[in-house]
Amino acid sequence: MSQRLTINQNNKPIYDIVYENDFSQLSDELEKFDILNKKLCIITDSKVNGLYSDDVCNVLKDKCKQVVVFSFPDGEKSKNLDTVKNIYEFLIQNKFERKDMLLALGGGVVGDITGFVAATYLRGVDFVQIPTTLLAQVDSSVGGKTGVDFDQYKNMVGAFYMPKLVYMNLAVLRSLDDRQYYAGMAEVMKYGLIKNATFYEWIIDHMYEIHDRDLETLEEMVVKSCTFKKLVVEKDPTEKGERAILNFGHTIGHAVEKAMNFELLHGECVALGSVAAAYISWKKNLLSMDEYYEIRDMFVPFNLPISIDNIDPEEILSLTASDKKMEGNQIKFILLKKVGKAIIDSTVTQEEILEGIKEIYFSEEDEHE
Ligand SMILES: NC(=O)c1ccc[n+]([C@@H]2O[C@H](COP(=O)([O-])OP(=O)(O)OC[C@H]3O[C@@H](n4cnc5c(N)ncnc54)[C@H](O)[C@@H]3O)[C@@H](O)[C@H]2O)c1
Ligand SMILES: [Zn+2]
Repeated sequence: MSQRLTINQNNKPIYDIVYENDFSQLSDELEKFDILNKKLCIITDSKVNGLYSDDVCNVLKDKCKQVVVFSFPDGEKSKNLDTVKNIYEFLIQNKFERKDMLLALGGGVVGDITGFVAATYLRGVDFVQIPTTLLAQVDSSVGGKTGVDFDQYKNMVGAFYMPKLVYMNLAVLRSLDDRQYYAGMAEVMKYGLIKNATFYEWIIDHMYEIHDRDLETLEEMVVKSCTFKKLVVEKDPTEKGERAILNFGHTIGHAVEKAMNFELLHGECVALGSVAAAYISWKKNLLSMDEYYEIRDMFVPFNLPISIDNIDPEEILSLTASDKKMEGNQIKFILLKKVGKAIIDSTVTQEEILEGIKEIYFSEEDEHE
């Protein structure tokens, strides 16, 4: 059974998210946008191109004026203005006009780049998200944040720009490699931790189905995750307030990601950052000790790290200071009051953050103790 969510702004529907088990309904969904008279450009990465571009082209080729594919090398290293420039050139060569449409077929990297190109090419063309990683399905394809990295700065250049549609084919999650899949689980668990204890328990109860990537379980998990993201982004579309709670685990997580030179996946760093944030929550008497250890240990069966050995805690601390979620000089830190309830705290001190980082730091000395 296919499900559907609608993202609204100021009580007006902005776009739908549809959940399917294949690409077959994509043409029906896009016909609503009069694609018969439009050119479509599928923007994808080298890996997803080999897996799914043909399927998507076949569904669309007789339903639109023309469909072309632009593919760039997969990975975060492509998420920059050079790729954006190459796409602009490709669109100009193919005479793409204002009324034509871009389709982002891939993970968060493809979605973020395509959204940014869509926001800026000819001052804005329509685009559709077809997210293919768990992270992109539960997080990056929903909410309208687009952008690219600039020099060493992540997501430094970008725009808020909404897609016309988000089309999720849950079956594609079955071709993700394990590491990517479980990295996405960190964001899924985050929703439970910050928003809904019942969902958190549901995740634990469905651990085996999640490991098996059972399609019905995946659908329920992704739809629920998107529902939480929807609630938060509808209330606060441009991150002025409550949307910040989505950054749970991300202040320290981003710092670890940077210090490790992006060798760890984002979701893996979010798991580490979540452990540190839960630890700080315990130390500030928001969580009990038992709650902290339960939260920490629950990442393990989902193949996510809870400690790391090759970091320098002081370096991580100084990297948290460059986090964008700063207000003046004070980091807006997201803590847990309990499972299912996050709070924004601007009183977390440098010492407390360092303690949190040390908690996830597993030094060789610890090992020999
Ligand atoms: N816009 C937002 O709100 C937002 C939120 C979170 C993260 N992000 C961004 O998302 C990016 C990370 O996204 P990601 O984790 O999806 O990484 P990604 O896009 O790099 O994809 C990860 C890898 O999986 C491959 N892949 C994608 N789909 C596949 C499939 N179905 N089967 C097999 N392989 C597949 C890709 O080719 C790539 O090698 C980061 O740049 C991050 O900044 C954006
Ligand atoms: Zn994240």
